[in-house]
This record gives sequence, structure tokens and C-alpha cells, in this order.
Amino acid sequence: MTTVFAPGRVNLIGEHTDYTGGLVLPMALELGITFSGRADPERLHVVSDGHDDLDVALPLPDRTSAIAAIEPSWGRYLVAVARRLGVSPGIDGKISSTLPAGGTGLSSSTALTCAALLLLGGTGPPLELAKLARQAEIDATGVQIGLMDQAACLASRRDHALLMDCEAVTVSHVAVPESIEVLVVHSGQSRRLADSAYNDRQAACAAVEERIGPLRRATMADVDRLDDPNLRKRARHVVTENDRVMAMVEALGADDPETAGAILTAGHASLADDYEVSTPIVDRMVAALAATDGVYGARMTGGGFGGSLVALCRPGTEPPVDTWWTRARPGAGARIIEA
Ligand code: GLA
Repeated sequence: MTTVFAPGRVNLIGEHTDYTGGLVLPMALELGITFSGRADPERLHVVSDGHDDLDVALPLPDRTSAIAAIEPSWGRYLVAVARRLGVSPGIDGKISSTLPAGGTGLSSSTALTCAALLLLGGTGPPLELAKLARQAEIDATGVQIGLMDQAACLASRRDHALLMDCEAVTVSHVAVPESIEVLVVHSGQSRRLADSAYNDRQAACAAVEERIGPLRRATMADVDRLDDPNLRKRARHVVTENDRVMAMVEALGADDPETAGAILTAGHASLADDYEVSTPIVDRMVAALAATDGVYGARMTGGGFGGSLVALCRPGTEPPVDTWWTRARPGAGARIIEA
């Protein structure tokens, strides 16, 4: 029997920047997905708490279009990983999760994908595994995601956020001081990225880059040259968000919670007004959190359109919400627990 654990993640800052080679600063959670399994000669059979069982006879389907027909839909990630790894695995397994269920913006799908990758024998440097996991997720959903979530899941280090340069595909580890507590709060609004305007935002960034070149190197003067007001707003978010990532790295290094919180709140305004990926409910919750004594700042986290919020606060602060929430320290990356 092999058992692996893969964490979910919360992104501190650097939202909707990964797919234009920008900067991101997520951290792995201590919550995630545990996947245990043993070899089975005939089937991929996996049971999962609170979900229908996956039961597929070998050989597994080999075309991306066939993956889309697999039910229950969570099984598509497993089959897509097997296909990308080039293995046709028989597994009798069990999955359990400590992440809140479905559509949370905390990368439960990525945790599932990365857990499958380790269980099915994927080996290599974490960022190489992350690239493979990303391709498998794209195969499973058709959403043209970036590399942030898979890197956070596989390359994180305990007590540190992960600073990734998505152009160079390099990472470094940034200590999160204990004076700053991270709160993760679910909005109560579930969503699937596949049903969202995620691909539309990515297309807008591609249109911007056709006009002014790579967003990673664009200046505000370049952004101001864009005639189309919508493209100008999307570009302004990305350019200012990359700056906010570096400002956050500095604030964490200086153990400066007020500045770190102000960066989150500014990041939310940019996502809500310029990138337009927030919702009225999330905006109201961010405002209520930011107005709470002890909270330094708050914003939506992840792809948006619902999902979760992240706040930085004085240790022990209670969020004024009646939805699921947790205090979070940065966790370690995905690992084999029992070989
Ligand atoms: C989702 C994607 C990531 C990233 C975020 C937005 O989580 O999987 O690649 O683009 O949205 O920052």
C-alpha cells in the first residue's frame, strides 16, 4: 500500500499573473488530499469520501476527448495524469480530503492531480512534476491555467510562501513571520473555473500582448497606450499586481504587517475593478474583514468568481463570518507518507 499527501494552497498575492509569465506568492496549506492505493491488475477503482466511486476498466482511454466523458468528473484528473505519465495503472485506492468540498479556490483539483501523480510513480524535480500536473489538469478541464497551483502544491516549504517567477520558472522560499496570521475564509460561493470567464481573461491578456508585447515587461506608459478601455484595465491589473508581489516579499521580510495588509486590500480593488473577477458577495466579505479590528488587509484569492478569501491579521483575530474558515501556517509540499 502506498499513501501520499498533497496540499491545497492559498495565494497571498500575484493573482491572474502566472499565465503571462508574472510573479506569484502562494503558500501550501496543511489541509489537502490523502490518496492510498495498491496495484490492481484490471481496474482503476478509487473510492472518495462523499463522492461517487471511480471505476474504470483498463486500458484507460487514451484521447483527451475520451477523458471528458469519464464520470464521476473528479476521475478525469486521475486518468489525465496516467496518460501524461504514460502509464496504464491498475489501482485499488481511497481518497480523503481535509479541504472544504468543491469550488473553493483552494486548489483541491490540483491537490488531487498532484496526489495522483505521486501515487502513480511520477518522479523528478518538483517544477518538472508541476508542469506535467498542469498539462494533465488542462486535459481534464480545458481551462488554460498557469503553473502557480501545481508549483505551490509540489515545491512549497513549511513556514514559507513560494515566490515564483513564472517566466523563468524559478522559485524561492519567503519566510512568513509568526506575527502575521493568515486567515482563509470561504465565501460560500462555489464555482468551477471551467464555467467561469477564466479563459476569457487569458484571451484578453493575449490581445494586450499582441499590442504592447509581454505583460511581464510592460510599464504603465505601455498600458496607457492601449486604446481599448477593457484591455487597458486588464493590463493595468497585471502590471500593478506584479509590483505588489515584490512589495509583499519586502513587507514580509521587514515583518511589517500593516504594509502587507494594505497590499492585499489594494490587490483586491484591482481584481474587482480592473480584472473584474470578484463578485458582490466576495466584495462585501472583503470589506467586512478589512474593517475588523486586528485584520491588516483582505482580498479574494485564487481564480475568483466566488471561492475563498485570504486575510492577514494579528494572531487570534476572529473573522466576522458564518462560512467555513481556518487559520493557516504555510505547509510543506506534496509527499509520499508511506511507500
Ligand atoms: C487558478 C489557476 C492559476 C492562476 C489562478 C489565478 O487558480 O489554476 O493558474 O491563474 O487561478 O491567479
